[in-house]
Amino acid sequence: MIISNTFDPCCLVVNDLKMNWLLLGLAALSHMAVSLDNGLARTPPMGWMAWERFRCNVNCKDDPDNCISENLIKQMADRMAADGFKDAGYEYVSIDDCWFASERDSNGRLQPDSTRFPSGMKALGDYIHKLGLKFGIYEDIGTKTCAGYPGSYNHIELDAQTFADWGVDMLKLDGCYANASYYAYGYPAMAKALNKTGRPIMYSCSWPAYISNPPYDVIAEHCNIWRNYGDIQDNWDSVSSIINHYGDNADKFAEVAAPGQFNDPDELIIGDFGLTYDQWRAQMALWAIFAAPLIMSVDLRNMDSEAAKILLNKNVIAVNQDPLGKQGVRIYKDTSIQTFRRELKDGNMAVAILRTSKGPTPARLDRSLKDLGLSAAVSYDCYETFQGKFIGSLSPDDEVTVWLNPAGGTYLMTCHPNPKPNARTNV
Ligand SMILES: *[C@@H]1O[C@H](CO)[C@@H](O)[C@H](O)[C@H]1NC(C)=O
Ligand SMILES: *[C@@H]1O[C@H](CO)[C@@H](O)[C@H](O)[C@H]1NC(C)=O
Repeated sequence: MIISNTFDPCCLVVNDLKMNWLLLGLAALSHMAVSLDNGLARTPPMGWMAWERFRCNVNCKDDPDNCISENLIKQMADRMAADGFKDAGYEYVSIDDCWFASERDSNGRLQPDSTRFPSGMKALGDYIHKLGLKFGIYEDIGTKTCAGYPGSYNHIELDAQTFADWGVDMLKLDGCYANASYYAYGYPAMAKALNKTGRPIMYSCSWPAYISNPPYDVIAEHCNIWRNYGDIQDNWDSVSSIINHYGDNADKFAEVAAPGQFNDPDELIIGDFGLTYDQWRAQMALWAIFAAPLIMSVDLRNMDSEAAKILLNKNVIAVNQDPLGKQGVRIYKDTSIQTFRRELKDGNMAVAILRTSKGPTPARLDRSLKDLGLSAAVSYDCYETFQGKFIGSLSPDDEVTVWLNPAGGTYLMTCHPNPKPNARTNV
């Protein structure tokens, strides 16, 4: 979550203090291996996270079913295991901000709010693990979390050990109440502290989201996934601004995405209140193209069945989870259409065509495979991805015809290169 950002990009003067943090940061770097070597996130992580849907609701008195509490997290874990999400690959059950007591305990250790988490975090982790799922938690690198609870500043090693003791499998480390020079020290220091616990903990950094011109190569050495844009909100403006940001900056950060290290455009809001059905599909399709973590933030207890089908779509998940781990890029943009292409293993390709313009009616679009960035093979066997429906064996000059609904209508296509020159059929 990004509420306050104390970094002031106006002031590029390197004062003594900043230089100290810089040197500490460099010292931390020099002790690290070339890339984060914890064996995790070989494909984009999948799971559920509390933030976008449940925020910082700590009012269990008036809203016991929806406040941030062990009951809420356990119910979500139950639904993930029972309703097919676990089988589809969703595994992390992650608490976000606002699980904390307002103070550390007498030994300086973090502790949860005792009325909302009466059984404690170790017990909650055990509950999640018994369901075959993984336990995610939230902290902040600064003096406080974004919502004002105790941050990890001056407690990095102790907090890493506390999380390991609780059986935590993933840490989202936010960046409120700190500054750019401190990030360069603090985020790598936490990576090192997590490693020192001996427990593999998937590490999500908010570092690049808080600074201008993030050093992605350095960030990728220390973090499994990283947020690089503001928090997603439950509306299409927010989702399309993220898609545009990823389209506009592909050259800056798509190239650092790889197994073990992925850009994170934030949670999936499929099944919430602010998007249309077409826009739910658009988010799922684009997140697949972006090799983005698939972290749902939705009330799994009361969920639209069509939204659940989108989140559980095996073909789209397979694109997202492609083992090559390459992030897709935008290859075309005008005022009404954007197209994106992602290279998959074995020369396979995924293409998304997104209609950004508004109504009033569905619009027809004809595009050759060549125009969609598919020209390496003599022909491709192409499928519409959501339905798994065969389109045809197409040469690069053949056109596909698609109809796109207004404001978010999306066509997702997966194509396999065909070595046989005469394998074409007409479409
Ligand atoms: C810690 O880092 C070392 C060296 O990079 C690596 O081999 C090891 O698997 C890491 N351990 C954990 C728990 O992340
Ligand atoms: C950055 O944060 C550190 C740690 O809180 C602090 O000591 C330092 O004064 C801050 N630097 C700037 C330029 O604000």
